[in-house]
Formats: sequence, C-alpha cells, structure tokens
Amino acid sequence: MVSSWCYFILPVVLLIGLFRKCRARTWGTCKNTENLEGRVCIVTGANSGIGKETVKELAKRNATVILACRNLQNARTAISEIRTQISTGKLVPMKLNLASFLSIKEFAAEVIQNFAKIHVLINNAGVYVPFKEHALTEDGFEIHFGINHLGHFLLTNLLLDHLQQSAPSRIVIVTSKLYESGVIDFSNLNGEKGLVVKGRMNPAYCNSKLANTYFGFELAKRIEKSGVNVYIVCPGFTYTGLFRNVKRSWFHYIIFSPIALLYLRTANQGAQTVLHCAIEPSLCNETGNIYRDCKLYVSKKKLDTDVAVRLWDVSVQLTRLKETMK
Ligand SMILES: NC(=O)c1ccc[n+]([C@@H]2O[C@H](COP(=O)([O-])OP(=O)(O)OC[C@H]3O[C@@H](n4cnc5c(N)ncnc54)[C@H](OP(=O)(O)O)[C@@H]3O)[C@@H](O)[C@H]2O)c1
Repeated sequence: MVSSWCYFILPVVLLIGLFRKCRARTWGTCKNTENLEGRVCIVTGANSGIGKETVKELAKRNATVILACRNLQNARTAISEIRTQISTGKLVPMKLNLASFLSIKEFAAEVIQNFAKIHVLINNAGVYVPFKEHALTEDGFEIHFGINHLGHFLLTNLLLDHLQQSAPSRIVIVTSKLYESGVIDFSNLNGEKGLVVKGRMNPAYCNSKLANTYFGFELAKRIEKSGVNVYIVCPGFTYTGLFRNVKRSWFHYIIFSPIALLYLRTANQGAQTVLHCAIEPSLCNETGNIYRDCKLYVSKKKLDTDVAVRLWDVSVQLTRLKETMK
C-alpha cells in the first residue's frame, strides 16, 4: 500500500520540482555582485517580504541600508534576523509610517540631517486590505491610495534634492502587474463612490499600483538628465505577508496550493528585479521603464501622458507638497 503511494507521489513531487525550477529560470536573478561600500540605500517596508530580502542582498554587497519601517521594533527584529546570516553592510532602523504625512516629513528631515548622500531609494512598502473595510490613513485617505501612492509620492519628493545631490542615484518604485486592471478616476480617487470589483482582486489595490506606475513614469520625465534614474518594478507573484488581511476559506487553500507551488516566488526571488534595478550598472542609461523578471516589461496597458500629469498635480495638492517644501 505504502509503496504504491510512493509510486504516485514521488513522480508528482519530482515533476512539480522540475517545473518550478524551469519557471524560476524565467524569473531572472540580479547578477551584479559588486561591492556597494559607501552607497546608501533606503528600503521602505524593509522588515518583511520583498523589502527584507532586498535589504539582505544589499547588505551582502556591503551597502549601508536604512530600513524605513512603520514599527521600529519590527525593523530591529528584522536586522537581528538578517545578522544571523549576513555580517556585512551597515543596517540602520528608522521609523517611517507612510500612512502619516507627519511621519514622512519627520523621516525625510532625519535622513537629510544624518546622511550626506542617498544613492538609492526603494519605494517598496505596500498594503492590501479588503476594500470593504474602508480603512483610511491618518490623513483621511483611502488606505491603498494613501500609503501605496501618496505616501511614497511625498517621501520621494522630499528626498529628491538629496538624491540629485548624490547623483548618480536611483529611485525604484515597486508596482504590480495588477496595475493593468487599475483605473485612475479623478472624481473617485478615494473610492468614496464605491469601486467596481472585477474578478477577484481588490480594485483599490490595483488602482494604487496604477498610480505608482504613473508616478514613476511622470517622475522620470520631470527629472530626466538630473542624474537620478527611475525604475518601475513588478516583482512577480511572491509568497509574502501582503495578503495577511484577506480571509480565505480552507477550500481556497486546497484549490490554490498547486498553483502556488508552481507559480509563487519566494520572497528572495521576488526581490531580484527590485535589486537588479537598484544596482545593475548596465541600466544606468535607462529611466522611466517598467521591469519584471529582471528585464524590460512590455505592458498591455498604454499609459496616458495627460493622466500622468494630472495625477502628479492632484498628488501635489493632496500631500500639500508646496507648503511642506517652503
Ligand atoms: N507579494 C506579491 O505577490 C506582490 C506582487 C506584486 C507587487 N507586490 C508589491 O511588493 C511590495 C512589497 O510587498 P510584499 O509582498 O513584500 O508584502 P509584505 O511582506 O506585506 O511587505 C509590505 C511591507 O510594507 C510595510 N508597510 C505597510 N504599511 C506601511 C506603512 N503605513 N508605513 C510603512 N511601511 C508600511 C509592511 O510593514 P508591516 O510589517 O509593519 O505591516 C511591510 O514591511 C508591495 O508594494 C506590493 O504591492 C507584491
């Protein structure tokens, strides 16, 4: 009886393993291993998932990395965990709550005061909360739009002069392929009129990822030739805590497990394109493009330049950027 099960299970496991290995080869790996001593990088949402793996990889290469996290204790715990594996690099925990404009301003001021140069800003942090919860940021914005887009918009703009003074420098904006199902409706940016749910994905999350993409696209244009390059990255479908707030039934897990086994990247695999865009020297003449699997991504969705400009202007108003910069 046991041996007949073995005859069935063993080939299935081997087949899945082989398929995963083949898939993983298409996901790409950051090949650059040069020493980053003296380079200062900021990673938002660095205490878990893709952000934490990005920190590990940067530390391996000797960089100084600021772990910008909403909970300082979680940042310190992440550093202790990383230090059990990697002893190189300098890791600095700092508090940054992207759901609070005040926290973002305090963080940016502290960075500017304590670090003469910032070479890489990785806008990685993100939330995925069931839309029906209608969660808001401290400043009253819909949580996905507020954290994923507005928070990073404000942070980047506050650090922009510093990044320019540190040129050549880079900004990596972590989006998601799901941006292709997003919409930017200027009369409903906060989802106050409700949002149409298409398929299984949270529309507010998709919209915020589209806003990330538009932001990267427009930012690259505005700072072209400043020595700061912008890279928009989709890390791919990755096993992290991103969906921790979504309640799923046991039935879902049974259906989903085989797909996950075949297609879900580990957090380290998810971090590879982020890292590639942050440090790969051959990308130094590229800006404003989208990347996935450590290569250029050709999107099905065409970005509208007028929407990009309008979203920029609206984001300036909503974050009160001009008043903050005075
Ligand atoms: N996983 C995927 O399949 C996938 C696919 C495409 C794109 N992405 C994108 O990849 C990025 C990283 O996500 P992940 O998958 O690594 O998920 P994750 O493990 O949940 O990481 C998200 C990070 O963002 C932080 N964060 C959340 N709200 C924040 C706030 N208000 N202020 C500061 N930090 C905050 C979280 O901190 P706490 O631990 O304190 O909550 C956490 O460290 C996100 O932008 C996500 O949209 C992920």
